[in-house]
Amino acid sequence: MTKFDFSNRDSFGSKFGVIAAAAGSAIGLGNIWRFPYVVGENGGAAFLLVYLFFVISIGIPVMLSEFIIGRSAQRNPVGSFKKLAPGKPWYLVGLMGVGAAFMILAFYTVVAGWTLEYLYQSIINGFEGKTPDQISKMFDTFRGSARPIIWFLIFMLFTAGIVIAGVKNGIEKYTKVLMPVLLLILVIISIRSLTLPGAGEGLRFLFHPDFSKITPKVILEALGQAFFSLSIGMGTLITYGSYINKKENLTNTAISVTFADTFIAIIAGIAIFPAVFAFGIPPASEEGLVYITLPVIFEQMTGGYFFSLMFFVLLSVAALTSTISVLEVIVAYMSEELNITRKQATFLGTASVAVLGLFASNSAAVFNVLNFTSATILLPLGGLLIVLFIGWYYNREKVKSEMTNQGTIDVWLYKPFMFLVKYLAPIAIGAVFLYGLGIF
Ligand code: TRP
Repeated sequence: MTKFDFSNRDSFGSKFGVIAAAAGSAIGLGNIWRFPYVVGENGGAAFLLVYLFFVISIGIPVMLSEFIIGRSAQRNPVGSFKKLAPGKPWYLVGLMGVGAAFMILAFYTVVAGWTLEYLYQSIINGFEGKTPDQISKMFDTFRGSARPIIWFLIFMLFTAGIVIAGVKNGIEKYTKVLMPVLLLILVIISIRSLTLPGAGEGLRFLFHPDFSKITPKVILEALGQAFFSLSIGMGTLITYGSYINKKENLTNTAISVTFADTFIAIIAGIAIFPAVFAFGIPPASEEGLVYITLPVIFEQMTGGYFFSLMFFVLLSVAALTSTISVLEVIVAYMSEELNITRKQATFLGTASVAVLGLFASNSAAVFNVLNFTSATILLPLGGLLIVLFIGWYYNREKVKSEMTNQGTIDVWLYKPFMFLVKYLAPIAIGAVFLYGLGIF
């Protein structure tokens, strides 16, 4: 069997390519589908503040830790831990990440598939003349049919098609074009939403905090959302980090990606809530927010056909640049650790995710278990172990050398970063985790 050729490992070709790929991973359904409904269910602005606190104090340190692990080892998550901590059980953290990748990809691609159906419905003007009730029924009827499975498989094929082409010629090449398109569409939609009569109410909901709304559940959800949205805690960014050139400033990259992700989530909120309030629809409507509430709004809005089309293109693009990053974790792991070719790994990975996805698509229970276990449990747990690895296990000099590119750049954030990964992040993640699960 062919051995993986580590001396000829693929990598990103440019600084913008790194940011586009990593921000493309982070920015996805988590920002545009999940973030608004989680904000809606958890009371709006107060949730947003807790969320922002976690993004800065935990999100950036975990992301940077992943980049450091990946770039110093130049391997997939399992291989990285094996290389940096030989003979120690740390590689299990990587293995847990690969497991989480299967779970996330299975339910995430199902939702991405719904997006394709809605894109299709937008094109054929399928919401035309329908009442809110009928639009809501459409979603249920659609989910009860065989169509979600077909769209799911189509989405998996798109994902696999890009991943199979490699890091530079697949992932980087596509994300570099898709991410600017995404930003442009989102800005156009927010302007439309903000100019609707009654939009101010939505902004108030998003930006005016009511602190009595902060409960343990809200805090746990905010942490889970931060992990999910930033793509951290399961080795996606260890994998992408392993493709980053030795000259790149990892600290700046982590900060830019985090900023871009948060910015897009907030703009998505600005695009969605004013419209939701302008049309008098209650904001907490779970996963239906984007698939029921928005089509209802588009149907009633001037220019709705165009905006609906734009919106679902946006959502599909955002989802695609994220699914490729999750599939890449599986493919990198399989091709490097199991010694199979990239092509075989892509086929094998895609096929196994497809099987799991069939279950997720057909059963809300399976879907919810995958969603909850991965986002709320495995990601924070993975993140905790990753910061512990960097803060307490891995050699400090090596961390410093990776952050400063072997002492060639000055990184004043080194000390605050070490403090965060050693103390604040592990304690905060651990506490929120135990508290939220009702353990203390
Ligand atoms: N962050 C992406 C989103 O917001 C989803 C995603 C991609 C992800 N890769 C991940 C989530 C890794 C957790 C872990 O849609």
